[in-house]
Amino acid sequence: MVYPDFSKGLKEVDLGPADSFTKFPSEVEVEGDDFYLAKGKDGVLRLLSSLCPHSWGTVYLEDTCFMCPSHGWRFEYYTGNCINGPIAQMYTFEVSARNGHLFASIPERK
Ligand code: FES
Repeated sequence: MVYPDFSKGLKEVDLGPADSFTKFPSEVEVEGDDFYLAKGKDGVLRLLSSLCPHSWGTVYLEDTCFMCPSHGWRFEYYTGNCINGPIAQMYTFEVSARNGHLFASIPERK
């Protein structure tokens, strides 16, 4: 996972057919990086980066939340908000639906 550099702009990526996601959060790989497709209680879909916003650990999915093993931060799995530490949130990217596919805007790498 590469640190998201927002200074280079965003690019839209196709996450695949909307009906291929049957549970949330779902693991999604985009260009070699790991994300989770989460669905909020409000029904809004969000793409959450597995890169921990604290110090770049790798966040993984536990039974009821996301967990970063580096320092123990936990994130709720509807929005990626930190639930046991400071005010923080997993890197979150908007998701939209078009022609039966889901798309997200993520940072450019170049
Ligand atoms: S790097 Fe994730 S909690 Fe510190």
